[in-house]
Amino acid sequence: MNRLKGKVIAVTGGARGVGYEICKRFSEENPEIIYSIDALPAAYSHAQVRPLQFSITDRPAIADFISRARREFGHIDVLINNAAVTRDAMLVKMTEEQWDTVIEVNLKGAFNMTQAVAPLMLEQKKGSIISVSSGSGVYGNIGQTNYAATKAGLIGMTYSWAKELNLKGGEIRCNVLAPDNIETEMAQSIPAGILEPLIARTPFKRMCRPYEVANTALFLASDESSFINGQVICVNGGLRL
Ligand SMILES: NC(=O)c1ccc[n+]([C@@H]2O[C@H](COP(=O)([O-])OP(=O)(O)OC[C@H]3O[C@@H](n4cnc5c(N)ncnc54)[C@H](O)[C@@H]3O)[C@@H](O)[C@H]2O)c1
Repeated sequence: MNRLKGKVIAVTGGARGVGYEICKRFSEENPEIIYSIDALPAAYSHAQVRPLQFSITDRPAIADFISRARREFGHIDVLINNAAVTRDAMLVKMTEEQWDTVIEVNLKGAFNMTQAVAPLMLEQKKGSIISVSSGSGVYGNIGQTNYAATKAGLIGMTYSWAKELNLKGGEIRCNVLAPDNIETEMAQSIPAGILEPLIARTPFKRMCRPYEVANTALFLASDESSFINGQVICVNGGLRL
């Protein structure tokens, strides 16, 4: 009930899917506020969730958000880089636009948000940054050259942040969640011929449920994971074993 007591949290992509589930689950743990950032409008029945509508590609909007958080609470304790898009195509058919869009949102968007939030965490000498990657970023996936590049990039950025943000003392924890196939709208675009063999290879013979990612994110956001830094946690039911 109090695992996030007093914490100010920013979640990107909070309007639906995993991000929505994270906001819902976190709101049960007594946070100060959860800023749910999404390009789409969002509605919540949870008092602690404050929806904000802007794109993580919009750096001036991000700067305005940081000013607002500073004014309202003076700190941000947890950042969850969750927002992402897919524009799948086979390598030889992938357009430059498909490549650029996915890099701009998934990789640069997470860079934009983390670069903006990091100064507050550096002042506090404390924080938790969780980036939602994917099995595609670790193992690759057919039709996902662009997406896999961004999800691998999140891991490289996280390893760098886990070292760099703690250079001057402090405990700013930077970790990655790497789920595989989750029951959300994003997964509906995966062709059955690719999805079904992955489910068949998963020991539990099913997809991940959004709350299972949210519960793992909760552990990483809370002080219960106080010595976990620079890790990739796979939430995949054993698919890759
Ligand atoms: N669904 C899966 O099978 C799966 C598997 C592995 C990893 N993931 C990862 O999990 C995370 C959540 O995925 P999901 O399945 O909930 O996806 P989703 O498509 O259901 O939700 C993504 C959210 O991000 C928002 N978003 C997209 N672009 C944005 C932007 N520029 N600025 C702000 N918000 C933006 C969308 O509006 C949407 O609400 C993503 O990082 C995704 O890559 C998903």
